[in-house]
Amino acid sequence: MNISVQMANLTQIKCDLLVVNEFEGIKTPGGGTGAVNRALDGLIQKIQQDEKFKAEFGKFLVFHTHGKIPAKKVMVLGLGKRSEFDIDKIRKLGAITARKAGDMGAKRVVSILHGAGIAGLDPAECAQALAEGAALANYKFLKYKNKEAKKLAKTDIKEFIIAEVDDKKIKKIEKGIELGKIFSMAQNYARDLVNEPGLHMLPKDLARVAQETAAANKNTSVKIYSKQELEKMGAQALLGVAAGSAHEPCLIHLKYKPKQGSIKKKIVLVGKGLTFDSGGLNIKHDESMSFMKIDMAGAAAVLGVFSALDKLNSKYEVHGIIGACENMPSGSAIRPGDVLTSMSGKTIEVANTDAEGRVTLADTLVYARRLKPDAIIDIATLTGAVIVSLGGSITGLFANNQALGEKLKKSAQATGENLWQLPLEKDYKKLIESTVADVKNTGGRAGGAIMAALFLQEFVGQIPWAHLDIAGTCYAEKDINEYTPAGGTGVGVRLLLDYLIK
Ligand code: BES
Ligand code: MN
Ligand code: ZN
Repeated sequence: MNISVQMANLTQIKCDLLVVNEFEGIKTPGGGTGAVNRALDGLIQKIQQDEKFKAEFGKFLVFHTHGKIPAKKVMVLGLGKRSEFDIDKIRKLGAITARKAGDMGAKRVVSILHGAGIAGLDPAECAQALAEGAALANYKFLKYKNKEAKKLAKTDIKEFIIAEVDDKKIKKIEKGIELGKIFSMAQNYARDLVNEPGLHMLPKDLARVAQETAAANKNTSVKIYSKQELEKMGAQALLGVAAGSAHEPCLIHLKYKPKQGSIKKKIVLVGKGLTFDSGGLNIKHDESMSFMKIDMAGAAAVLGVFSALDKLNSKYEVHGIIGACENMPSGSAIRPGDVLTSMSGKTIEVANTDAEGRVTLADTLVYARRLKPDAIIDIATLTGAVIVSLGGSITGLFANNQALGEKLKKSAQATGENLWQLPLEKDYKKLIESTVADVKNTGGRAGGAIMAALFLQEFVGQIPWAHLDIAGTCYAEKDINEYTPAGGTGVGVRLLLDYLIK
């Protein structure tokens, strides 16, 4: 889908579908919608009355124009209550439009820019959200479908045009569209990686993707540490988790460095990269194992971010660290009760081999810390417990530095990603004390997401650090909202990109 802005009048532009809007409770359409209504001799108003259309958020009317204006059909989209209107609603409206246009087979769609009129929102932000919604809504993972099915499932629009008559807004809208395209492409890239079956997303595949990502982006480089190198580095925790698998682990270090002199800060992103999590010897039962190919969604988010940093001209020096491995049961697997020495020297009692993510993160966080960054942000499908607490559309946030936590919350606001901060409760630290090692990888079922975060905190030292537990939000069994279809969601990508351009 090509998204663009055109200096054009809604009543004169040719398209298959023309999208206008209306707030709830408004009797006579105004602005662009009013102009279209007049050009159609009051048809919008008439149909609205006949259909008892109240313009509740997301509801719409679609009708033929019978040649009265160049647009073949008009869609009147309900904006809902004006007091409740915000940027994420625009993202959803973009998605509703793309889905409906897809179903109708409309190839050329023209839309009014929601929010930039009487709602008074920034045209660039409105355009970005509209573009994102449109580009994220019709995402489908069709790689393993046969040709016929692929054809049937293709519902993409060719042209999505924002029509604007105010020439002062055009530049801003262009800028917003550009950001929206880059953000949503990066997110869809992450979705593809998450949706890839474990068989085709082994640790070496994650490394290959990282290399491809670095090669396709300027100012970006990558170093892959092999199993042998990890042994020399003393990354026993990561190696321990990988010990049961037939596939060798690796550590991926991506680096984006903008032009000298302009660098703001050094940020390290750490992504959990379990290409499959069977639980190991503490094996998972059937349902909970069935979708564990998603256990590299943190890594996928980091890769998604790296696919876009240079295009966005980020002023941060950004490092991306991924411990890629597979958690499998076998004769060579680690056992419950084993003790592993992490790269920092701190020893870990593996009380449960299914709490493997935090064990691999111990080594990758130590590696991250040694880069002496201004902040570390890790993103990980870490605990089932966070799903119990926050469900499928809210990511768990932890931070040892409130300023960093607040910045991420701001980016969450801007991108429509939901974050909810949970505490790093000091009193619970004793629950992860071990009798045989420095720290234990479980702290009991109660407060499980907090236990995991407290464990990670043991390895970050004093560096400002935030942890995003995306176990609940990385994968959707059913559509989560208008622009988040079932499957890998690519959560975290737009959130982190927003953070890295502000
Ligand atoms: N990868 C899982 C967490 C997870 C669960 C992600 C569901 C996505 C959906 C993690 O490695 C895990 O198994 N955690 C255990 C920890 C427990 C053994 C302390 C869990 O949450 O059950
Ligand atoms: Mn696990
Ligand atoms: Zn896991």
